[in-house]
Amino acid sequence: MNITTSPDVISRSSVNITPGYMSGFGNSFETEALPGALPIGRNSPQRCAYGLYAEQLSGSPFTAPRGSNERSWLYRIRPSVKHSGRFVQVDAGLWRTAPCFEQEISVEQLRWDPAPIPNADMTFLQGVQTMTTAGDANTQAGMAAHVLLITQSMVDQHFYNADGEMLFVPQQGSLRFVTEFGRIDAEPAEIVVIPRGVKFRVELTGGPARGYLCENYGGAFTLPERGPIGANCLANARDFLTPVAAYEDKDTPTELFVKWGGQLFRTTLPHSPIDVVAWHGNYAPYKYDLRTFSPIGAIGFDHPDPSIFTVLTAPSETPGTANIDFVIFPERWMVAENTFRPPWYHMNIMSEFMGLIYGVYDAKPQGFTPGGISLHNMMLPHGPDREAFDHASNGELKPVKLTGTMAFMFETRFPQRITTHAANAATLQDDYADCWKGLEKRFDPNKP
Ligand code: FE2
Repeated sequence: MNITTSPDVISRSSVNITPGYMSGFGNSFETEALPGALPIGRNSPQRCAYGLYAEQLSGSPFTAPRGSNERSWLYRIRPSVKHSGRFVQVDAGLWRTAPCFEQEISVEQLRWDPAPIPNADMTFLQGVQTMTTAGDANTQAGMAAHVLLITQSMVDQHFYNADGEMLFVPQQGSLRFVTEFGRIDAEPAEIVVIPRGVKFRVELTGGPARGYLCENYGGAFTLPERGPIGANCLANARDFLTPVAAYEDKDTPTELFVKWGGQLFRTTLPHSPIDVVAWHGNYAPYKYDLRTFSPIGAIGFDHPDPSIFTVLTAPSETPGTANIDFVIFPERWMVAENTFRPPWYHMNIMSEFMGLIYGVYDAKPQGFTPGGISLHNMMLPHGPDREAFDHASNGELKPVKLTGTMAFMFETRFPQRITTHAANAATLQDDYADCWKGLEKRFDPNKP
């Protein structure tokens, strides 16, 4: 199947109708790697097929409302109690967890150049570099924003995160996530979400990799409401892909790492924990191609708030006040008349961590490069630089297509505290705030 809507729109056959995945968001999926492994009509039969153990993984409290209730049933070679042991605490490297007050907060706008990919061997576990933390993982609220640098696949190593759900944003290089639920391959412009408690390892499939990682301590990411937009556009449910069951029957030693309470622990297992032969339920990892996001914007004048570009939201207990919004700025047409088209100047109660996957971001044509980061924290003013202001104020307002660009934002209701690593990084730009220096006074009471 090959559905193409215009020459520059991706062919869906290459990214979506792909063997190995099931389409839909939050569906009650069911999948088995061996015929008959999945019990029919019940979750926990007296004896499971193939000598499997039945186990439930609960991502929400048992009593959560039906719309946010998340759990899956896994039929596995060994129950997870056999994928556990005496844990010893190990060095978590540069991975930090909120609350983290190791650095005085910076009341200024900050920006970093892309972190260089090192020559040293670095697996996913060694390659997480926390830039900001927000909220408190102990109260299951807030997030952390990390840079991810990987030069080596995890071999005979697995990991799960008890502190949060993880949203991976590859920026360079391709990654394979070998999870209990199945395999996910991802390249830049795709994102991968691994729920809390799901065991996995990360492998490289094409050279060293760099990316961003959002660790969500709160309730799971879900699709935002569309309100008056209606039933279509933005991120459509069918473009989310969850892997089919795939297992390893491997009786060779592996290390299992667990992040729990902000600390990293290790134990050794005599076998692979990737042993789920069949599963069903709505709590599972997934991927999504950001190029399938159907943007909506101004077709008259002005422009709506950037929330119109929300891909996923992790709600809090307060309606409309997200623990995290994951927002993108993709390719799109700019057609608004008599309008200052770039993002306007503003201050925001939410804290904005921005990254650039590829291309140029229209409000910052200079200094914000793919792999880089900007941080506009709670109630700190920001907006277009002088060059962007001049261009947008004086340019001819014909339709313009922003092409080859993909920026994103992890936006949270909580202030983001930078880590010592972020504060001392050689990539921190010391002159970022100077980008607004050239915005001189233009007011003239005699010129209406
Ligand atoms: Fe902003």
